Amino acid sequence: MSPLLLSGSGNRPLALAMAKVLGIEPGECHAQKFPDGELEVRVGEVRERDVFIVQPTSPPVGERLLELLLIADACRRGGAARVTAVVPYLGYARQDRRERSGEPLGARVVADLLAAGGLDRLVAMDLHSPSVESAFHLPVEQVSSVDVLAERLGRVTSGERVVVSPDLGAVKRARAVAKRLSLPVAVVYKQRLSGSEVEASDVVGEVRGRSPILVDDIISTAGTMAAAAEVLLHAGCNRDITLAACHGLFVGPAVERLAHLPITRVVTTDSTPPPAGLALPLELVSVAPVLADAVRRLGRR
Ligand code: R5P
Repeated sequence: MSPLLLSGSGNRPLALAMAKVLGIEPGECHAQKFPDGELEVRVGEVRERDVFIVQPTSPPVGERLLELLLIADACRRGGAARVTAVVPYLGYARQDRRERSGEPLGARVVADLLAAGGLDRLVAMDLHSPSVESAFHLPVEQVSSVDVLAERLGRVTSGERVVVSPDLGAVKRARAVAKRLSLPVAVVYKQRLSGSEVEASDVVGEVRGRSPILVDDIISTAGTMAAAAEVLLHAGCNRDITLAACHGLFVGPAVERLAHLPITRVVTTDSTPPPAGLALPLELVSVAPVLADAVRRLGRR
């Protein structure tokens, strides 16, 4: 039996693109709100089916997460044989450790919620750190957008380039992109001051006279990317900066922070839909083939 793909309201265009790659029609799945703000969810026939629910838990994070849990519960109660959540972007994954006492372990709480929601398995893409998997009792299938991002970045041929990690946490990902593009890597030293404020102070590696490609997992408020770009400009890089990230959230001051910088392009994936009318030179690459491939591999035949 072919897998049954259902889409939450988090990213219907991506679910449709996945269905197209798989050559199937998405199943019936409706989500709307009751007048009091509660979510109202209804799925079609799922009995004995191998169900895959596509839902990024991007903003509004809590609501998207709850919707996913409600859809999973509806599938369970409808007699689905197995329910897998395909979560292209997993909110709270950055809360994978307690920085200070008094803080919760957000990633663990979300992992427990997903398990309690009756899911059998999770497909997650570019988790903030691969070790987030250890918060889950559920089997987690991790997939990556690095190949599709690198493929798009490889089409940019302007001058001498360097791949730059905007902080120490992103070095592995930047290295993976650099390897695919046969480019050198530089690293910016960053300190986080608060949820939306960061300070970048130094760069290790040769960036003078080169066009940097900054690679990170997430652009949220763009504080990290903006601070890194300032440091690179100060270090003499070309005024031709490319930003690349697996997940483009672009919340709060993101556009404002990037507007005055010489950003030539911002390459992100469609793991979450970009905000409407985003005033940035955005180039979106689709991860539908990557996620469809995971569904194909994991789906019951
Ligand atoms: C942090 O460790 C992440 O890898 C990103 O650098 C960060 O979450 C991006 O957030 P923002 O765009 O708000 O700086």
